Amino acid sequence: MLKAEDVFRPGAFPEYTYVSRTSALSGLTYEFRLNQAIKVSGFLTSLVGPSKMGKTILCEKVIGLENIVEISGADFDDKTDFWKLAAAKVGLSYEGQFTSEKSIPESGNKYFKKETFALTKDKIIDYYKENDLVLVIDDFHYAPEARRMQIAQQLKDAIRRGFKTIVVSLPHRADEAIRQNADLSGRLSLINMDPWEVKDLEEIAKIGFAQLGISIDDQIAAQIAVESLSSPQLMQYICLNICTILEMKGEDCRVIEPEILETAYRYTTANFEYGEVVSLIRKGPNTRGKSRNKFRTRKGQDYDIYELIVKSIAENPPIMQLKFEEVKDRIYKLIADGCEKPKPQAMKDSLVKLHELLTVKEDIFKVLEWKDGVLYILDPLFLFYLRWGVRENV
Ligand SMILES: Nc1ncnc2c1ncn2[C@@H]1O[C@H](COP(=O)(O)OP(=O)(O)O)[C@@H](O)[C@H]1O
Ligand SMILES: [Mg+2]
Repeated sequence: MLKAEDVFRPGAFPEYTYVSRTSALSGLTYEFRLNQAIKVSGFLTSLVGPSKMGKTILCEKVIGLENIVEISGADFDDKTDFWKLAAAKVGLSYEGQFTSEKSIPESGNKYFKKETFALTKDKIIDYYKENDLVLVIDDFHYAPEARRMQIAQQLKDAIRRGFKTIVVSLPHRADEAIRQNADLSGRLSLINMDPWEVKDLEEIAKIGFAQLGISIDDQIAAQIAVESLSSPQLMQYICLNICTILEMKGEDCRVIEPEILETAYRYTTANFEYGEVVSLIRKGPNTRGKSRNKFRTRKGQDYDIYELIVKSIAENPPIMQLKFEEVKDRIYKLIADGCEKPKPQAMKDSLVKLHELLTVKEDIFKVLEWKDGVLYILDPLFLFYLRWGVRENV
């Protein structure tokens, strides 16, 4: 009998719940697209998509664990040698010493000589080709900005010689070094990964619970899928937590009642660490001692504008992109009848400030973006945390 943790795997390759999706643009599956792309010799594949959408899993699925060599943008610092890293990942020693036996010509006497060697880039490329290896540079956005162009330069030369590489990154951030690189133009296969649709997320629950002998209503699967905010990872987490709840109820509990969903959502947030992020956003930028205007909500709380923004994002329905009008309407709905409402311009100013505050912080804080009148939630797990993990009056 399979265990729940083998079936639902939020942090690893989901062997039993892998779902194949079709790209809206091409009408082809992502697996086919990626396979097709890496078969074209002399081309570099750029795979771009939002966080936690299954980019790494797709590469692992298509290339297979024997042939994939994964390096992360985070493996690079200012000095890391690209080829040294590519060699180390496959267990080749790049530089080293060996001792060879030599003999002196006239006397025939033998002696040992220490020699140093360095693998050439050509040797490494050959090794990859001979062994059918594909290098995946994952999370390219983690490589220092100054290094990205240099890496692209190394790749340009290597792909011409049949070295197969996939560069994986988030949209709009790090992909310029690859996609906007004139040297690479005409030598790129581009794959854009869309966020997950509800029907594909539902599949994860349906196939997973079926394998565990647990029955799930289509409607419940759909509800969980909506709450998963286009993230297969969140879907896997929630399903796994549902299993844990059922197990705690007793062995023979094999039906998912709608009542346990909320509990499952709340339990799921325990997996995430956004406490500090939420409190930073609620606090907003430093006011240098001045206190902010407070607004009275329907529930009788007094919130300043940043607290209202956080509240509004968490409202129903869960949406990853909110136009300013939507943010405003959500905030106005929170305010008690007849009480003062924040002015639209003040809200816009606060959104600009929030954006500035978060973009200079570490990656975990980069959860929101305010751009061209739209508030983008960049991290689905963060929005989920806001909806289910944050308790009132905290
Ligand atoms: N095709 C898929 N089918 C089912 N679950 C998936 C699929 N792709 C990803 N997942 C789930 O989402 C998690 C995160 O995927 P990952 O590839 O690491 O995202 P990314 O690399 O885009 O950040 C995986 O560990 C897995 O639980
Ligand atoms: Mg990844």
